[in-house]
Amino acid sequence: MNIILLGPPGAGKGTQARRLVDERGMIQLSTGDMLREARTSGTPMGKQVAAVMDRGELVTDEIVIGLIAEKLDGDKAGGFIFDGFPRTLKQADALGQLLDGRGEKLDVVIEMQVDDEALVDRVSGRSTCGSCGEVYHDTTKPIPADGKCSVCGGTEFKRRADDNAESLKTRLFEYYKQTSPLIGYYYAKGHLRTVDGMGEIDAVAAEIKAVLG
Ligand code: AP5
Repeated sequence: MNIILLGPPGAGKGTQARRLVDERGMIQLSTGDMLREARTSGTPMGKQVAAVMDRGELVTDEIVIGLIAEKLDGDKAGGFIFDGFPRTLKQADALGQLLDGRGEKLDVVIEMQVDDEALVDRVSGRSTCGSCGEVYHDTTKPIPADGKCSVCGGTEFKRRADDNAESLKTRLFEYYKQTSPLIGYYYAKGHLRTVDGMGEIDAVAAEIKAVLG
């Protein structure tokens, strides 16, 4: 099964994708994670995209389509979860072509609906484990009291450079301008399902489970 998690910054796409990886053996393809990895390892592409990401703008379609195309060549296990991709109509068309070319299809697009005010809170309280990437939140999913990641025991936690009010404003603007048209695009194709992303993490996971069966 191949699915897209579609939603604004901080909607909980990464959080739910990690659960699906654990529960269903799916492969998470997060273009945001891939780009951050390229930055950390200092590749020429990583250097090229750094400022764009910090401002909250979108990286070029060519770069992210190239990243996804590379990953689709690998093991597909229980299917792919596209997290943060596609984000433009051009990326959506490209994904369709890439899957067609491999004799595969897209099964479901899950739109996660979350109010803008909640997004600000989620993004400003987020931290991630520096070792395994597990996502935490200052109030809704705090780092365990012993200071160790509950998944891998790591003790270093990071905050993202783009998780600030100014960048979030731009990220939301880009979402509504460039990504929200995908809701109609996938609705027309019969792929779209909507979940209420405002509930607690377990409640959202249950809704997604009900959609996927
Ligand atoms: P990316 O990394 O994809 O960021 P994003 O889409 O802005 O999404 P986030 O990772 O911020 O949020 P999320 O929905 O995964 O939420 P999370 O689960 O972490 O992209 C970053 C940048 O890279 C972009 O701005 C762009 O520059 C570039 N980029 C990436 N892909 C691109 C593409 N395809 N094209 C062009 N450019 C691209 O949760 C957030 C917080 O909320 C956490 O603290 C979590 O614990 C908490 N939380 C989660 N669920 C709940 C819940 N139900 N209740 C309460 N708290 C919750």
